Amino acid sequence: MDTLHVTASRDYDILIGRDLLKDAGALLAETGALNTAVVVSDDNVFPLYGGAVMKSLERAGARVLSFVFPHGEHSKNLRTYAGLMEFLCAQRVGRNDLLVALGGGVVGDLTGFAAATYQRGMRYAQIPTTLLAAVDSSIGGKTAVDLTGGKNQAGCFYQPVRVICDEDTLKTLPVEEMRCGMAEVIKYGVIGDRALFDCVKRDGLSAPMGYVIKTCAAMKRDIVARDEFDRGERMQLNLGHTFGHAAEKCSGYSILHGQAVAMGLTAITRAAVKKGYCDEKTLEDTLEALKVCGLPTEIAYPLDDMAAAALSDKKATGRGVRLIVPETIGKCTIVEVSADGVRDWMQAGGIGHD
Ligand code: NAD
Ligand code: GLY
Repeated sequence: MDTLHVTASRDYDILIGRDLLKDAGALLAETGALNTAVVVSDDNVFPLYGGAVMKSLERAGARVLSFVFPHGEHSKNLRTYAGLMEFLCAQRVGRNDLLVALGGGVVGDLTGFAAATYQRGMRYAQIPTTLLAAVDSSIGGKTAVDLTGGKNQAGCFYQPVRVICDEDTLKTLPVEEMRCGMAEVIKYGVIGDRALFDCVKRDGLSAPMGYVIKTCAAMKRDIVARDEFDRGERMQLNLGHTFGHAAEKCSGYSILHGQAVAMGLTAITRAAVKKGYCDEKTLEDTLEALKVCGLPTEIAYPLDDMAAAALSDKKATGRGVRLIVPETIGKCTIVEVSADGVRDWMQAGGIGHD
């Protein structure tokens, strides 16, 4: 097992290894007294791993409850959040108890937001079961639910007490979801790690997952330590996400988050070439890595809809939007563009072309 220590408003460890679920209770008891522990999960993940986690929490002496909701982005909303809050209240869960997010980014984001706001803040732990959650969403304390107007519009920064990443859970993850996780991994490569990028471009889904997860988790740990509240460097983690979130919204959330990131990464890199920020080779390499991982690259939604969706995104500032723009594999820059500029960048990225 590898341990990465995160330094933030609350320090915590990320534990990465195999066969860790059976020890989850003991590993969480190390972070503080276990009175009541509530396992929050979705209806795909809970039947697979809920039993092992609940048993191990019971062995560690906790009163264990579970809250399970339908899987998918459509559940990451105020209704599910309210359901969880009312459940916690009805079960007399207190602020010294623990929520355990067992699942992908949807479960993690929603559980974190509930933990941050229930009785003004209780402890929570992340047990990521998707590649995307292992390399990205379980680390760094961004919590949120979606509103009708856009993704992640209600949320806050709130760090977990521990992240337990059991690589073995990826064995049951559908291949399409593995591909989605790879979109975030490619993103990390473009932001700051040429070796990681080359490995994924060469090996695709056969890349060694231990190496991939540890490398991304370490990169995220370092970025969060330097910019926990997303005022500068951390924004780079949104590479591909501004156009990606817009595509997700235009699809009515029918495309997966990682697919949207892959489309957004392609569009912003195309635009970066057109506007002289990076060369053709960077675009070719990016397209190749996405192709090897079986990810989509084209955005089929109309330019007007995409621009409107991007401008309602939370990254919109009074003056426009901050775009994360690749300069080469391993280096990006932040470019602030006006509302009109967003449309122009999208067009340069091939959005709205047949
Ligand atoms: P997800 O949580 O919806 O999981 C994807 C699917 O895989 C679901 O159907 C789930 O039930 C299933 N699943 C999960 N683990 C499984 C397993 N081991 N075996 C079988 N099936 C399994 O989606 P995701 O891709 O993990 O996360 C996407 C979400 O994460 C989005 O809402 C996105 O906004 C958010 N996100 C947050 C951050 C952050 O920093 N907080 C970063 C990136 C993405
Ligand atoms: N996934 C973006 C962030 O954590 O900042």
